[in-house]
This record gives sequence, structure tokens and C-alpha cells, in this order.
Amino acid sequence: MPERKQPPVSRDELNECRRCPLWRNATQGVPGAGAVHARIMLVGEQPGSQEDLQGSPFVGPAGHLLDEALQAAGLDRDKLFMTNAVKHFKFEWRGKRRLHKSPAQQEIEACNLWLERELEKVHPTVVVALGATAARAVLGRKSVTLAGMMETPVEHQGRLVIATYHPSFALRQRSDEARAAAFERIVRSLRAAARLARGVKTG
Ligand code: URA
Repeated sequence: MPERKQPPVSRDELNECRRCPLWRNATQGVPGAGAVHARIMLVGEQPGSQEDLQGSPFVGPAGHLLDEALQAAGLDRDKLFMTNAVKHFKFEWRGKRRLHKSPAQQEIEACNLWLERELEKVHPTVVVALGATAARAVLGRKSVTLAGMMETPVEHQGRLVIATYHPSFALRQRSDEARAAAFERIVRSLRAAARLARGVKTG
């Protein structure tokens, strides 16, 4: 049976958070969700428009692609924990549409308290950072080289951190080939994370 316990960070706590200004325009804070003692934790950048409205991570288009990648990698979403480096949606209005805006370093740092709490409570063996923002947040560094971390996991605070493309990156690719290549890269990284979580060296 998949675990369904209290999440390490609650929505109420995030809705009261004033550590950065992103709460002002967002609908709600989006805490991490999933198995609270998962071996694998996936970290994205920030909630998108759908996540902001529904209050759960990875439920919009990027989440759907991620679900396909998880399935291709043989991973069960219910057994993972999914969260974001930043817990409120940052956007700008373009007509009637809310367009994603990348979070600033200060916003990532302000939100790190919540991510650290999730990492501490879930205590995963492997963290998959989806994109550079997530990798920076998980490692607490201002810059990271995503390519290197896709091939070789980094040991950090007793966990293995592996990086891959953010699913939105795959969705943004213009050609079918580029989209398929990015998707395959994500699947490979997820498979590597599964092996690492089982204690098998990847390479
Ligand atoms: N993109 C993210 O980084 N996280 C989500 O939850 C959704 C889209």
C-alpha cells in the first residue's frame, strides 16, 4: 500500500510564509507530496500554473510528461516523493495567461528552509534534481554543471544527488527528435536513480 501520511511541510505553513514576496500573487503554496519515507525524491523548480491552482506538484503538462518518463523507467509515482525548490508559482501576466518566470537566487534561498525540512524528514537515499535550479537548491550552490551531474551522481549530506533535464525543457524542444532525446535522457536518469536507490552503482 502506498504511504499516505502528513506531508513534512504543510500547505498552511507555506501559506503563512513571508520569507520572500512570491506568496503575494500565487494562489497557494504547493508542498511536496508522495511517500513520506520514499527512497527517491524528485525535486523540480517551482509549481506551474496548474500546480498553483490544484495545490499539488507536477500535475500539469510537465507532470504528465514526467509521469510518462517514470512509467518508462519502471518507477511508481506513489512510491516517490515529489517537490520543488520554490513552493510558490512565480509568473507574469501575458494577456490572460500566466507565464512562468524563473525564481531569483534570493527566492530559492528563502525557500530552502522548506526543501531542507522535506529532505530531512523524507530522508531519501537518492535525490533527482530536475534542472539546474533544483540542482543548485539541493546542493546549496550558486552554480552547478548539469551535464556532469547527469553522468555522475554527487554525494551530498549523505545522499546521492543525480540531475537530469526538467520535463519542461523536453516540452520546449521544437523538433520531435530533440524532444525524444530529452525525454530519453530523463528516463535514463530515472533508471539510474532507481539503481542507486537499490544500492547498485550506476555508470
Ligand atoms: N514544474 C516544476 O518544476 N514543478 C512542478 O511542480 C510543475 C512544473
